[in-house]
This record gives sequence, C-alpha cells and structure tokens, in this order.
Amino acid sequence: MARARTQFICQNCGAVHQRWAGKCDACGEWNTLVEEGTAGGIGSGPQTLKSARKGRAVALTSLSGDIEDAPRIISGIGELDRVTGGGFVRGSALLVGGDPGIGKSTLLTQAAAALARRGHRVVYVSGEEAVAQIRLRAQRLTVADSTVELAAETNVEDILATLADGKRPDMVILDSIQTLWTDLAESAPGTVTQVRASAQAMIRYAKSTGAAIVLVGHVTKEGQIAGPRVVEHMVDAVLYFEGEGGHHYRILRTIKNRFGPTDEIGVFEMSDKGLRDVANPSELFLGERSGKAPGAAVFAGMEGTRPVLVEIQALVAPSPLGTPRRSLVGWDSARLSMVLAVLEAHCGVRFATHDVYLNVAGGYRISEPAADLAVAAALVSSLTGLALPADCVYFGEISLSGAIRPVAHAAQRLKEAEKLGFRQAVMPASSGELPTALTIGSTQPEHLADLVARIAG
Ligand code: TYD
Ligand code: MG
Repeated sequence: MARARTQFICQNCGAVHQRWAGKCDACGEWNTLVEEGTAGGIGSGPQTLKSARKGRAVALTSLSGDIEDAPRIISGIGELDRVTGGGFVRGSALLVGGDPGIGKSTLLTQAAAALARRGHRVVYVSGEEAVAQIRLRAQRLTVADSTVELAAETNVEDILATLADGKRPDMVILDSIQTLWTDLAESAPGTVTQVRASAQAMIRYAKSTGAAIVLVGHVTKEGQIAGPRVVEHMVDAVLYFEGEGGHHYRILRTIKNRFGPTDEIGVFEMSDKGLRDVANPSELFLGERSGKAPGAAVFAGMEGTRPVLVEIQALVAPSPLGTPRRSLVGWDSARLSMVLAVLEAHCGVRFATHDVYLNVAGGYRISEPAADLAVAAALVSSLTGLALPADCVYFGEISLSGAIRPVAHAAQRLKEAEKLGFRQAVMPASSGELPTALTIGSTQPEHLADLVARIAG
C-alpha cells in the first residue's frame, strides 16, 4: 500500500512540489505553496488503481462534421448565444468567471430559465446560496415559475447522485467551482486540489452523458480565477463577465473557445429585473456623448464580428509638474505614448509641458490599434480647444512614421456609423473597395500631419 506522503501544491497554478518553498518555480508567485496530504488522494492509494480497459480508436476521416456542427443547446438570449458561438455545446464544459457581485448567478439563472422554457432539463446546483435564496432571485427575475431544478449541494458525489435521478439533464450549472469538493481528494474545499478534482469529475460527467456543464468561478483582485487557473485549461470554453463600477452594463467576453470565435463580446444591461440584452452596444456607449466639446472623438471600432462605436475623450492641460501626468482609462498606455510621440516628432504638436488624460466613454475597454486615429484626433482637439465635427467618426492605425495604415472591416465600420446618423469618416487611404450604397462621406489622409492640419483649420 502506498505510504501517506505530503506534497506542496501551488494555489495559483496548481504545480506540485515535493518540498516547501517560498516561491513557486512554475509560476513565480510567492507564498502560494500549501501542504496537502496525498494518502487516498487522487493519483495515489489503491482505490484509484483499476484494471486496464481496451478503448476504441476511430479513423479521423470518419468523424463527421466540424465545429459548426457541434450539437448545441440554444438559450434564445441573443448576446449569450453569440458569445458561446451559437449556443452551449452538448458534452462540453464552460467556465464563467467574474468578480463577486458582477451578476454571474443572475446571468446563469436567466439562461437556465430560458433553456427550461425551451423544454430542456436544467439543474442549477448552488454551493453558495440556499434554495430559498435562489428562488428569491428567480422571483426578482420573474422566472420563478420555471421548471429549472434547484439543488444546494457542494459534494460532487452527492451532486452526481442527484443528477442521476430522473431524465438526463441537458445542462448543469455549478455555482461556484470554489465551493465544490469530492471524497477523492483530501484537502479543504477551495484548494487547487479540490477544485481540480471536482472539475475533473464534472467534466467527465459532461463527456459521458452529453450534458453541457457550466462552472462558475470567482476572480481574485489580480484578475485571475481565484486559485484554480488550472480549470481554465481543463474546460472547453472560458467566458469572463465584467463591468465597471458605477455603470449598469456588463460585458461577457470570450477568453477561450474550442467551439467558436474568441473575439466576441455580449453586452448586457443590469436592471432591477435582471440582465437585458443590448443588441446595439453603440447606442449605449454613445449615449453619454458630450456633444460639441473639444477633446471628444468617436471611434468606429470592431468587437469580433460586430462594429461598436465609442467616444474617446481627451483632456490636455498645462502641467504644473516637472514630469507631466499621463493618465488613461480603457486604452493601452504604451499606445498612448506612441501616438503622443508621433504627434510630437512628425506633426509639430507639443505635449511636453501638458498633462494628458484619456478616457474611453462608459468604462468600455478598447484593444484595437485601429483606435490610434481617434485618439490622435481627440488629443489634438483638446490641445487646440477646437471641437471636432459632431457627425464624424475616426478609425485607422498610426505607424511610427506617422503614416496612416489601413485596418480590417472598413465597410462594416462605415455602415454602422451611417446607421447611427454619422455623415463623415476620417479613415486610412487604400481601405479597399467600399460598397457604393454608402452615403457617408470619407476623408482619407495619408499622414497624421494632414489630419492635424485639418483639425487646426
Ligand atoms: P449576482 O448574480 O448574485 O452576482 P455574482 O453571482 O456574480 O456574485 O448579482 C449580484 C448583484 O446584481 C447584486 O449587487 C444585485 C444585482 N442585481 C440587480 O441589480 N438586479 C437583479 O435583478 C438581480 C437578480 C441582481
Ligand atoms: Mg453568485
């Protein structure tokens, strides 16, 4: 029989060490190693030994269909189905991460009710709240009459026994993975060992029964799924639910997806009756527009396959400091420095004695370099005190030489801008063939200096 031994497991990355150390060699985090006994644990002890069974190998060519054909369960909540790539995939595991209180349980309660309404058997297992609390939330969301089954359990073996009762579930929601524990692992709930073993058991369940499982995970202050980042590698898809404090909308973002695109977002608005789909995010992000104030430029951006218009606000003010301040929300600081440097070096615009504040309206976050041009326009507008035309959108990448480089999806960006009432666009030259049906006018400067000259009149 195996002798009881101890191991030290990193609570951040899940690496196993034989000896304690202050720092985990694998991920470089400090003070994350925790001693865990392995007697009877996973991977040791006689109960995990089983006789080998012969598997079956199939020819690659005989596997019909591809990603698009994966059997899906559609919720009917448009934004959610978009982010999952067309619905939950049967037999797959999905991780939904997010800060506590952001609305994960709300979203999944609504999804569960929507699925149940379409005749699916959905089981909502909560380890955090009592059944009465879940029912209260359901009442608030006006889905209390739904056929979703509720269970307040945390032990994986109990959960599996509950699920085995009755018709096979189509979807199982486990809220949250951090509360689950299995008899197979000895350590306390919430430790990496428990989270991993529990997730493994539930994923095995999904694969063998064809149910779609959703694991809910809390994110730490540092922005990682608390402790068990290992779970991210085990599941088929990872979604993050995020939002800015003080704003009502929430963004569901794909981080990983084996069955769909990874650059999609779903936009929701939190109301007193739960989350509402926002089918046209541009209207939401432009809703807070300040109008004809200097320093505001509308960026025609893309999120995945969808155009999104957002306002970029800049404030450039004389600085009392030796080293002027550069402060930004919603964009990349390295790219801001680059745009400032190009404006200084190639366009004769001086920021050296000015503080620069840059903000993306509504707490939205931009990751596209295509926003360079809109940022430059907002900066120059604020510095000169001259407002940009209110009916104009901007997009284009700026190179270090100041040349304006083309970006993808020009036609889609223009179409969205036109739909929302914009009449002009400043965009890169050589953006390819544009649809003739568009009535929006376009200016295509070759160099950033041309744009600066236009703004300064
Ligand atoms: P919840 O889904 O419990 O968050 P999580 O599971 O991510 O921790 O949502 C909690 C917040 O959402 C809470 O602050 C109340 C708010 N809320 C609403 O504003 N409207 C609603 O209809 C519901 C159910 C919650
Ligand atoms: Mg919750």
